[in-house]
Amino acid sequence: MTCENNLRVLFATSEAHPLIKTGGLADVSGALPKALSQLKQFKGDIKILIPGYSAVLAKLKSPQTFANIEVLGQNCTLIAGKMPDSSLDVIAIQNTALYERTGGPYSDGNGMDWPDNALRFAVLSRLASLLCSKNSPLKNWQPDLIQCNDWQTGLAPAYMKLVDKSTTKSILSIHNLAFQGCFDTSWISKLALPVAQYQIDGFEYYGQLSFLKAGIFYADKLCTVSPTYAQEIQTEKFGFGMQGLLKARSGDLTGILNGIDTQEWNPATDMHLIKNYSNSRIAGKKAVKHALQQHLGLQIDAAAPLLGIVSRLTYQKGLDLMPEIMPKLIQQGCQFAILGSGDKALEASFNTLAEHYPAQVSMNTGYHEHLSHNIMAGCDMFVMPSRFEPCGLNQLYGLAYGTPPIVSLTGGLADSVRDINELSLKNNTATGFVVKNVNSASLLVTIERAINVWKDKKIWHQIQKNGMQRNISWDSSAINYLALYEKTLSNN
Ligand code: ADP
Ligand code: GLC
Repeated sequence: MTCENNLRVLFATSEAHPLIKTGGLADVSGALPKALSQLKQFKGDIKILIPGYSAVLAKLKSPQTFANIEVLGQNCTLIAGKMPDSSLDVIAIQNTALYERTGGPYSDGNGMDWPDNALRFAVLSRLASLLCSKNSPLKNWQPDLIQCNDWQTGLAPAYMKLVDKSTTKSILSIHNLAFQGCFDTSWISKLALPVAQYQIDGFEYYGQLSFLKAGIFYADKLCTVSPTYAQEIQTEKFGFGMQGLLKARSGDLTGILNGIDTQEWNPATDMHLIKNYSNSRIAGKKAVKHALQQHLGLQIDAAAPLLGIVSRLTYQKGLDLMPEIMPKLIQQGCQFAILGSGDKALEASFNTLAEHYPAQVSMNTGYHEHLSHNIMAGCDMFVMPSRFEPCGLNQLYGLAYGTPPIVSLTGGLADSVRDINELSLKNNTATGFVVKNVNSASLLVTIERAINVWKDKKIWHQIQKNGMQRNISWDSSAINYLALYEKTLSNN
């Protein structure tokens, strides 16, 4: 696959690592444009468009203001710069009132959504569309294609089709259908959307304006982050009400499994670890486990199976099943290193367990990049029993770090982890443990199964090796994206 021409891609996103991150979307937005731009088949250039949150403005390399522009009644300054860890181009939208706030990109310090999120992300979408139009302030750089990501940029394809009449092709990447950007109808006129399109064949969604529905309806092509999830979202169980439209557009929908950024996530070079290790020098992992147990105040014991969790604590992730079964596992000598925030009741349950069993359970809330790498490396296995999982990155990190994942059979988890059985052990494809049904009894049985296998060091090392040897870098996924770009441009 070769792009003969100078392909120009605008990658619009609400988060991108290392500028700002709340979850996997940031990992993908940081890694995929980089991987594409490094592909020898890719002849062109990519620019990332992102809101200028304080963290983004602080980390942007070589910032230069190139335009002041008013959209939706908001004065915005466009700043061109580079990613801190690469030469990739970034355009940050500066508007202090909208984006430079104490709190997260989507919510305040108490986890409450910002009340003007509709405006904040409509401005992002509106500017994305403008940059793809004849009125773009970026002279001499009109994108051939825009890749939008999730609901925060879902209005861009609508503005492109309905307002700017753009000739740029659009792709909407769905990273999580559960977040739909739904707002009451009073926003339609405030966001300068044509009222006539507030209908089933438009951006109406069960009596509300939905940014995600707009993107799904108006984008030229749709993609999501694993082949299995691409199928699942066309069903009632996983479609969150959008299954009808997604099924109708199934010919335009592709699933491409995410990769991992091996510059960031590689146990052989990871700067966060006290000792680096690899498949052939796996012994180094022991030193990381020792240091992690020490750091977290757990009993230092190489013989205790250490289970890791790093996650948003939401219904999606299925971790509410853990508190019930942890006491039984603790009795069997297990230890837990937990890092996660979200659901306050679940945070409290994990905290209570950590208070009762300080030598065996550690619970950290908040966002800690360094600790997340150490949990991934220092633990023996990683627990991720998601009820649905578009792709999931942590299980991929688990594979790369010799920390076999215990996962449910859904979305990207189903596409990336192979359960242990006679055949997969024999042909060296076993990489983890699959929970049949997402309930606590089934999860307990699977974790106990994993612990039993862990006791057999020879088999365990083979399973670690199977995962560590797999190529899960972005290389092949980036090639698939390039193919999707070409398909979109050629109208197929
Ligand atoms: P999702 O995007 O649904 O949250 P993914 O598995 O795709 O799930 O990605 C989650 C990403 O966020 C991973 O890189 C993970 O390490 C990271 N992460 C989640 N919670 C935390 C946390 N509390 N501290 C640091 N990193 C976290
Ligand atoms: C979402 C999904 C997750 C996926 C990530 C990146 O946050 O929940 O499964 O890995 O996006 O695509």
